[in-house]
Amino acid sequence: MAHQRICVFAVILVWGCLASSSYHTSVAPPQDLQITDPGLLGSLDVEWKPPLNVQTFNECTVKYKFEYRNAGDRDWKVIFTRKLKFRVGFDLSRTAEAKVQTLLEGRCTDDVEVQSEWIHATFQVPLQGKLESEVKDFHCIYHDWEYLKCTWQPGLLAPRGVHYGLYYWYEGLDHAEQCDDYIQDHGINIGCMLQNLSQAEYKDLTICVNGSAAATLLRPLYVTVRLQNLAKPSPPEGLVVSVSGSEELRVTWSPPGGETPPQCLEYELQLAEDRGDAKAAWESVSTQMETAFTIPRANQSRVSCVRVRGRTNNFCADQGFWSEWTQECFSVSRKEDKQLFILVPVILSFSCSLIIFMLIGQCKKRSPAGKPLPSSVGC
Ligand SMILES: *[C@@H]1O[C@H](CO)[C@@H](O)[C@H](O)[C@H]1NC(C)=O
Ligand SMILES: *[C@@H]1O[C@H](CO)[C@@H](O)[C@H](O)[C@H]1NC(C)=O
Ligand SMILES: *[C@@H]1O[C@H](CO)[C@@H](O)[C@H](O)[C@H]1NC(C)=O
Repeated sequence: MAHQRICVFAVILVWGCLASSSYHTSVAPPQDLQITDPGLLGSLDVEWKPPLNVQTFNECTVKYKFEYRNAGDRDWKVIFTRKLKFRVGFDLSRTAEAKVQTLLEGRCTDDVEVQSEWIHATFQVPLQGKLESEVKDFHCIYHDWEYLKCTWQPGLLAPRGVHYGLYYWYEGLDHAEQCDDYIQDHGINIGCMLQNLSQAEYKDLTICVNGSAAATLLRPLYVTVRLQNLAKPSPPEGLVVSVSGSEELRVTWSPPGGETPPQCLEYELQLAEDRGDAKAAWESVSTQMETAFTIPRANQSRVSCVRVRGRTNNFCADQGFWSEWTQECFSVSRKEDKQLFILVPVILSFSCSLIIFMLIGQCKKRSPAGKPLPSSVGC
């Protein structure tokens, strides 16, 4: 009984000590959290100042837990840091939210992490114009890792004489640049071609399409893309189908030309087998990174066509676009092969004897001098 009481007492004592020590050490939140827009179409600068009493914590480290998101996002992105300034990406068409708290840990807290209250800040670019004036159907494709082609349609409330501009930025550019190669329809910019973007691969590329018209304000569109996720390669090259052995078809091809890194591709191979009955339907037989594939030949089938296409594999990107198909058609079948071997000699010998027979007849009529007959007559 006494033993139990001592135990309970000891537990209460330890708990009390821990609780009181962390209770006594508290830390103030950081100060002056600010979000500013450096004009980079999506990257915002977030900074704060250390808490007031930070010098009084000897033998303790002060860190910050910084979290940010766009209004409407479910999750916060979290950064633990000792820095006081970050440049992070937001979608400028929505409110940017940031919060930061102080974390204190070390001898002064008995190595228990002590957290301050949060401080919050928000930021919103002035959203001019009605939402319906924003451009529609904005798409970009990164062709062969060589050029980015973006297209859009004028917004529903696009006034006459509207002029659209595309601006872009990625880390490494001093400031946002404007497109210098627009695609036009009836004098209105509806797309843009951007070359020389290899420095922007594997980074956030922020894009803004805004517009102006004489008396109307138009809503700008903000988009952040990753080039590798928009890549569309050219079709594979040199598709060759050969019969290896009697049971197998060997299909080989080469990666497409252009700047697509060959190690970044995967391929889909499809086969249309004509079994004589219904119309041949395409069936996937393989998705792989190699550029050769062996297909076992189906029983009696006549394989009619093989086609291959490529796209960025998931070692290089989260997603991408399939290339167009490369197609090769042919006709082989074990059954027919045999029939051909039997039929061809029969037909040949039959036609040869017929020709020889006719020639002999002609020779008899037209060359009484008895010229020698050609020994082979096309046989
Ligand atoms: C391509 O971009 C780099 C900087 O990223 C620049 O130095 C170079 O001049 C550009 N080349 C062309 C052909 O525009
Ligand atoms: C479009 O955005 C660019 C880059 O932010 C800016 O320089 C330009 O003034 C804007 N144009 C209009 C019409 O808002
Ligand atoms: C070969 O024929 C049999 C019987 O007709 C069929 O069950 C089988 O699936 C066929 N094999 C292939 C590879 O088509």
